Amino acid sequence: MNAHLTSTARTVDRVVDKVHNGPTAQSDDNSILIAPGRPELTDPFLVMGEERFSMPGFDWHPHRGMETVTIVLDGVLEHGDSLGHAGVLEPGDVQWMTAGRGVIHRELAFRDERAHVLQLWINLPAARKLVETRYQDLRAGVQATVVEPGVTVRVISGSVGAVTGPALNHRPILGLDLTLDPRTTYRQALPATFRAFAHVVSGRATIGGHRVRAGQTAWSDPATSASTLDFATPDGDERTRIVLYAGQPLGEPVVAGGPFVMTTRAEIEQAFRDYHAGAFGPVPRLARIRDR
Ligand code: CO
Repeated sequence: MNAHLTSTARTVDRVVDKVHNGPTAQSDDNSILIAPGRPELTDPFLVMGEERFSMPGFDWHPHRGMETVTIVLDGVLEHGDSLGHAGVLEPGDVQWMTAGRGVIHRELAFRDERAHVLQLWINLPAARKLVETRYQDLRAGVQATVVEPGVTVRVISGSVGAVTGPALNHRPILGLDLTLDPRTTYRQALPATFRAFAHVVSGRATIGGHRVRAGQTAWSDPATSASTLDFATPDGDERTRIVLYAGQPLGEPVVAGGPFVMTTRAEIEQAFRDYHAGAFGPVPRLARIRDR
């Protein structure tokens, strides 16, 4: 056996079906792609949801201690926040928000018409939970793109080869939006210490040897050596779209309370006190956006 380490294919440890919940008070159609409360399986990721919404959407609410990454799949998302940002995001655009010490924001369907989004919550390490709030508007046009035969990779965060995506990170996170033609293979190198998940948005693929279809998420836990996650699409006439995220687990306690994610119950109580005392700023008074 060769003494030096070679790059080998990663295994997929589990394939998880999305949980379809249907209408909620805010959304026309909600699905949970990453369920909260099992950090041993998802760390550094906390939760991911898929929403199709019109009225009322997600009116003013706070966050602290984590980041949200929202990919617009279809429709138009109107957003506003207590930093003074407001705008509309279109399909392919990504909103990367670091709640940090505290933000108040809203996520609505432009003109109350229609928005279809995927939203991932990424945990922040204990030492960075109270960092400055930051908003990154990563338009489709600024995302870096890698094109190989049959494969388009939009790099949202992190690097693919020499190509680096636009997101600023508090710790390294790889975020990719892959589109694969039928009968195509793609191989993504990943640091050994990273946990990765690949969510199939549409189409189907064999990921790390497992067949995965639209709505399912394949997870690959940290490996023992630097390795690749391998994708192959079957015959047919349908393209496959996959959202891939990877990052190193924090290995810290996760205590969630509503929209706040901290490491102790006392910090959650402090977050509620700070929010109610106005430390996140006043609820913004912003008119709805009428024209793009
Ligand atoms: Co929110």
